[in-house]
Amino acid sequence: MIKRPRRLRSSENIRNLVRETVLTLNDFIYPIFVVEGNGIKNEISSLPDNYHLSIDMLKKEIEEIYNLGIRAVLLFGIPKEKDEAGSGAYAIGGIVQKAIREIKRICKEMMVITDVCLCEYTSHGHCGLIRNGDVHNDSTLELIATTALSHVEAGADMVAPSDMMDGRVAAIRKKLDENDFNNIPIMAYSAKYASAFYGPFREAAFSAPQFGDRKTYQMDPANKLEALREVELDIEEGADIVMIKPALSYLDIINEVRNKCNLPVAAYNVSGEYAMLKAAVKMGWLDEKKAAVEMLTSIKRAGANIIISYYAKDIARWMKEDGIHAI
Ligand code: PBG
Repeated sequence: MIKRPRRLRSSENIRNLVRETVLTLNDFIYPIFVVEGNGIKNEISSLPDNYHLSIDMLKKEIEEIYNLGIRAVLLFGIPKEKDEAGSGAYAIGGIVQKAIREIKRICKEMMVITDVCLCEYTSHGHCGLIRNGDVHNDSTLELIATTALSHVEAGADMVAPSDMMDGRVAAIRKKLDENDFNNIPIMAYSAKYASAFYGPFREAAFSAPQFGDRKTYQMDPANKLEALREVELDIEEGADIVMIKPALSYLDIINEVRNKCNLPVAAYNVSGEYAMLKAAVKMGWLDEKKAAVEMLTSIKRAGANIIISYYAKDIARWMKEDGIHAI
């Protein structure tokens, strides 16, 4: 035999030398859930090691994240009250708007990205306004754009619309530009599937739809060409980064989008993917560190440049403890 692939696997050093995909902390965005109230730091039962934090508890958390080397967070807000129109999403004194101001006050260098959607704020739990029993696209656009603007006015560095209304990237771009925020990028949840893997998040954000499901706006998991059309539209409308969500069951989509477009590609390693691993670890069935690193590496190998993950802090800790090679 002349060709022996095992030669390049024979030692740790040579494996390190030929490794094609290496995670770095620069790849990660860490999601944070903020709630109204004081002194609240409650572990989210469906997302172990992740917390509901009140504004006054952000200082410690942000400093910890910063010291771990993470430089980007994705904010989700849980308002005290919800209504039909999701008005808490675009209120100047809304929970996310307050959290943005506080994080920027604590740590200017932390990049604050906001999830732009109405579902945490609507009494019916859908991502837009309801008309005739369904989410009405065009009347929702104005509210989504207004929400994005309110986040940016509060100091957000980037907005990430996750509502899946047609035309929302264009609506946000227009609104931001009219208000002199032409330098604020949009990371669009371009191919967001109607996935069962958002279950733990909806429990964490109290945002499960109160009737029906999200299939009239989020994508059918069976479709790939449709994802490419969604990405194309978002790029035409002015998206700066396109996102695929969830990640693990959609590695083929990440790969295809990576090959077909030249924007940075983000992937959301969603709550159900995290919870699945956590549950298996709790049962003693998987080695958490090895499985998490393997899973996140596969997302990067598929083509994602940016990974949103509840594991970001653990990854940072593991890198500090052992160095990336030991993983
Ligand atoms: C809001 C939103 C959701 C997630 C991110 N933004 C929930 C949903 O669409 O129902 C899910 C994130 C996760 O599961 O980790 N629309």
